[in-house]
Order: sequence, then C-alpha cells, then structure tokens
Amino acid sequence: MTTRRLVLTRSAAIVGAASTGLLLPGIVRAQSNRVRVGFMLPYTGTFAQLGLAIENGVRMAIDEKGGKLGGREIEWFKVDDESEPSKGVENATRLVQRDKVDVLIGTVHSGVQMGIQRVARESGVLSLIPNAGVHAATRALCAPNVFRTSFTNSQPTLALGKPMMDAGHKRAVWITWKYAAGDEAFEGFKDSYTKAGGTIVKELGLPFPNVEFQALLTEIASLKPDAVACFFAGGGAAKFIRDYAAAGLKDKIPLWGSGFLTEGVLDAAGPAADGIMTTMHYADSLDTPRNRQFRAAYASSFKMQPDVYAVQGYDTGLLLSQGVAAVKGDIANKQAFHKALESQTIDSPRGKWTMSKAHNPIQDIYLRRVENKDNKVIGIAAKALADSGAGCRMG
Ligand code: PHB
Repeated sequence: MTTRRLVLTRSAAIVGAASTGLLLPGIVRAQSNRVRVGFMLPYTGTFAQLGLAIENGVRMAIDEKGGKLGGREIEWFKVDDESEPSKGVENATRLVQRDKVDVLIGTVHSGVQMGIQRVARESGVLSLIPNAGVHAATRALCAPNVFRTSFTNSQPTLALGKPMMDAGHKRAVWITWKYAAGDEAFEGFKDSYTKAGGTIVKELGLPFPNVEFQALLTEIASLKPDAVACFFAGGGAAKFIRDYAAAGLKDKIPLWGSGFLTEGVLDAAGPAADGIMTTMHYADSLDTPRNRQFRAAYASSFKMQPDVYAVQGYDTGLLLSQGVAAVKGDIANKQAFHKALESQTIDSPRGKWTMSKAHNPIQDIYLRRVENKDNKVIGIAAKALADSGAGCRMG
C-alpha cells in the first residue's frame, strides 16, 4: 500500500511539473535510467550465510568501481528464495515481472536455479548465477542470457578422485544430500575416482536439508572404507563435520569432499574440521597479491572472513560491472551486451578466469587441507578445468 502510494505521488508530481512547463528532462531520465538489479538468494535456512556472502561480494565489487554500472545508478531488489525449489519460478517471476529487473543475480540451490533458468529463458532477462552448479544451466538448457560465475557441480569433484588414490585410499564411501547438487557432484567423483583405479564401496544419501546423520555414520563405521568422500554445504556441512568427529570417525577414516564442505563453516566446526581434504576453485591461503588485497578489504567492510561464496559474488559483480562498462551502459542492445559478457577476463581472488562457450568458468581447481580454521593450498589438482558443456546449443 505504501509503495503504491509513493509511486502515485511521484508520477502525480511529474505530471504536475509537465503541465506547468517545469519538467526537467534530465531528472526524469535519471530516474528511469537506473539499472535494476535483483538478488534472488537464500537469506534463511541452511544456506542463509551463503546468500549473505554472495550479496556482500557483489556489492563490494560494484562499490570498488564507484557504485554505478556503466555510469548509471543502480536500483536494488531482493527476494529470499529459502532454497525452496517449489517456489523458484514464482520468486523469479516476481523479480522479472513485478520489479522489472534488468539483471537477476541468483541463486545458491540447484533445484531453485532450475526455476530461474525457465524464467530467464522465457523472458530473456540477464541471469547471472553466483553459485548453483546444476549442469543443465550451462549444458542442455544453456542460453545466451545466462552466465555462471561459479562452477558446475561436477567441476570440483572431477579433481577429487586422483589425489585420494595418490594418498592410498583405494576403497571409498560416498555420502551426500540427495538432490541435483549432490548427485552431480557424485558424477564427477565417480568419473575421477574410478578412472584413477578406486572402488566406490557404497553411495549413501539423505534428503536436503536433513541433518540426521547418525544412522549413516554408524553404517560408515561398519563398512570401514579407506576414506569417505562427500558433498555438503552451509549449516549442514558444519554439523556433518562435527557429527563425523563425535562418532569417532575423524582419526580412523579420512574425510574428503568437494570444497564446499569446509567453506564458511570453519569457526562453527572448530577442531573437528582439522585435516579434512577437499578440492575447490578457491582457497583462503592463495598467496597472491590479488587474494590478499581482496581478503583484507572484505574483512574490513563486513567484519567477517570471506569464503568461496563471497568470491563468487565478487566475481559476479566484476563481470556485471565490466560487461556494462564495455557497452557504455547500453544494455538494451542485448546481443552486444551478451557478447561483452562472454569475452571478459575476470581478475578474481581465485585466479584469472574466462567463460567457456557454454558460459561457465574455465578455472584451476586447488587441493586444500584444513589447518587451524584455514583452507590451506596443497597444490593444483586440475589446471584450467572446463565443464564439458555437453548438449549446449546457443541461440
Ligand atoms: C547447489 O545446490 O548447486 C549448491 C549448493 C551449495 C553449494 C554448492 C552447490 O555449496
């Protein structure tokens, strides 16, 4: 009601000014000239911290470039998607139809992303994916107006199998949340681990975002594999790490995973996380001037340490800012705008990266080990890894 009244009042004022010949075209244009940017992210639930880190990162990148896009002011919009797939289409439609955003930045959860993907493909609105790794978004359902700044779900785990075998772990149990992100992470793990000669003894799973791990941990203890590999993230990951240690498994069966397991959770997990080995396109301790400068600036702005989600948000802000600047703010010319976005090099805290043909980062994957609440780099597990983009036909 308040919003509606405000809008009416403002247009009434403009009509009034026009009839008295006092309309200032510059002012009216400045209002309609804003770039409308919508966040569709989880701000509640097990992924709430991920949504916040992404938004922080986006805002930081744009603030560093003067707080505008191609010289234009920004109007921000926000929707909490609650990591709820059944509301994905409805929430994305709110941003696109009601708020008329030029850019939709979202989201974290692969199932919710499928709703955004549908709305993006139907409306043609620019969709920037700052996390969700669902394969289809940059494979069979790829689109000229959809760009991902994060990863595909199998990218980190395609680099996981070999270092596990190199460490002598020949028989492994896989455990995850049973939904697209966990299932597709498993595809990467299975491919890399079996190619390296490993045997997957058992696949275990529970529904997202369930955190009742006890029965599954008992099963792991009785299976006695050489190692466990997993996909978990956010609040659920912190609990899995603590429960794994509490079940007495930490010192008996080494825990490995796709790196989300140890992102943004190291304070909550405490010493239970020490020694966990993961593969990921970022590591806190990357010793580059770019990463050091980013970490210091983020910590001072937000009074917390950045994680991979903050980096992905930051890179989303960089991509948007560079893309809009390249077309001098003229984002209505979509073909030129999309071409500009495609051809950017992102000077990321994770290392420089470019877009694959299907619009997903081509990037190094690091092997990391948790030491004293830090994801320490051990080495590069895969160099310039590109997702296959299988089935992607643009246009
Ligand atoms: C996903 O659902 O795609 C997802 C969620 C959280 C992560 C990674 C992937 O950390």
